[in-house]
Amino acid sequence: MSSDRRPCVPQDSSLGHSRIPGFHKLGWKDRLDRVAAFAALDQAHRDQLAAPSNIDAPLADHMIENMISTIAIPVGIATNMKVDGRDVLVPMATEESSVVAAVGNSARQCYDNGGFTTSMSGTQMIAQIQLLDLADPARARLVILERRREIEALCNECDPTLLRLGGGFRDLEVRLIDAPSGTMVITHIVIDTKDAMGANAVNTMAERLAPKLAEWTGGRSLLRILSNLADRRVARARATWRCADIGGEAVRDAMVEAFEFADADPYRAATHNKGIMNGVSAVVLATGNDTRAVEAGAHAFAARDGRYRSLSRWEVTREGDLAGMLEMPMAVGLVGGATRIHPTARALLAILGVDSAERLARIIAAVGLAQNFGAMKALATDGIQKGHMALHAQNIAIAAGAAGVEVERVARLLIERKSINADAAAAVLAEIRGR
Ligand code: MEV
Repeated sequence: MSSDRRPCVPQDSSLGHSRIPGFHKLGWKDRLDRVAAFAALDQAHRDQLAAPSNIDAPLADHMIENMISTIAIPVGIATNMKVDGRDVLVPMATEESSVVAAVGNSARQCYDNGGFTTSMSGTQMIAQIQLLDLADPARARLVILERRREIEALCNECDPTLLRLGGGFRDLEVRLIDAPSGTMVITHIVIDTKDAMGANAVNTMAERLAPKLAEWTGGRSLLRILSNLADRRVARARATWRCADIGGEAVRDAMVEAFEFADADPYRAATHNKGIMNGVSAVVLATGNDTRAVEAGAHAFAARDGRYRSLSRWEVTREGDLAGMLEMPMAVGLVGGATRIHPTARALLAILGVDSAERLARIIAAVGLAQNFGAMKALATDGIQKGHMALHAQNIAIAAGAAGVEVERVARLLIERKSINADAAAAVLAEIRGR
C-alpha cells in the first residue's frame, strides 16, 4: 500500500479535486454547478441533470414493455474519492439515506494516504451452453474441445464490430456436471466484450453455437445464456487507512474483528456484503447498468469456496494501519443498454469522465470498499443508528406530511426528544403548525 503523504487540498483550489469542503451544505443547484465545473459538463448534460424528475415518456415506453410511468431516485455525489491517483466525483443513485455520505467520509479518511488503488482481471464474459442426452459425455467434451477453431470463428462472425474493437472469442471450457437426469455437458465460451457489458453479444453467440454442438456430439442442446458469475471480469480495490486517521488502535482492531465475524458467518456476511452493494449498486444504477447482474455475480462469487463469505478482507499492516481490499465480479459497460440511451445515465457518466468500462468497474469497486469501511467503522464504534437518525428523522417528517422548512424543524424536534416514529412526527407537526 502507498505510504505517500499528500497535503490536504487548500480550500480555494478545490475545483478539480474531489475534496470540496462544505459541499453538503450547498443547495442542490449549487452542488450541481460545482460538479458541472469539475467535470466540464456540456450544457445539455447539465440541463438534463437540472431537471431531475424523469425521462421522456416516449423513451421510457421504448425501454420496457407496458410502461405506465417512471420513478425517480435521488442521485448524490460521493466526494473525496481518489482512484489510482485521480480524483473523481462519483454519482450514486439510491433511496437509502447515509449511503452517499458514508462513501465520502470513508474516502476522506484515506485520501491523504493515497486513496484507492484498483485493478481488473479483464473484461471477459462467459456464456454457457447445456447439452443433454449424451451417450458418452466424456467423448462429447473432447469433440467440442477439438473444434475450438471453428467455435472461435463462429463466435467472432456474430459480432464483427466487437472484433474490430479488439474483443471477441478468448477461450473455451467444457465441464461435465452430474444431475439426476444424467451427465450434462456444459460448454463455456469466454468472450472479451470490451466496453460492452456484453449480455447481448454472448447470448447471440451461444444461441448460434448450440445447434452446432448438438450436431457434433449427437446431444440435445437446451439452455444458452450468459453466466452472471463473471469471474473473468473481476474488479479489485484496496486502500490503507492510517491508524491515527480512524480513531486509533481500538477502532482499527474492532473493525478487523467485525470483518472476521462476516467472513466466518453467512448471516453476518449477507449483511456485510449488502452494505458493500449499497455503494456498488448505486453507481451501477446511476450509470444505467444492470444492478441485478452485478448483484448476482457478487453473491455467487462470495460463495465460490462453497461457503458464503465476506467479499472484502481487512487486516492490520506491518505499520499498524488498517488495510482493506475488495474483489468482486463487475460486469458493467459503457455501450449498449440504458448506458447509451438514458440521458441521465449519460450525463452521470460524463461526471465520472470514464473512458472505458474497465475504469468504471474499478471506480465502482473502490466505492464498494469505501462503503464497507464506513459501515464497519460505524458498527464497530457508535452503531449505525446515530448517523442514520438525522436523515431518517427527515424522512419520517416528510411521511407525516411536513413540507419545506417544516421538515428540518420536525426532524430536529424528533431527535431532541429521542422519539423518531410516525406518531411522534404527526404530533410534532401539529404542534409547530399550531404555534
Ligand atoms: C445498511 O443498509 C447496511 C449495513 O447493514 C451494512 C453492514 O451491516 O455492514 C449497515
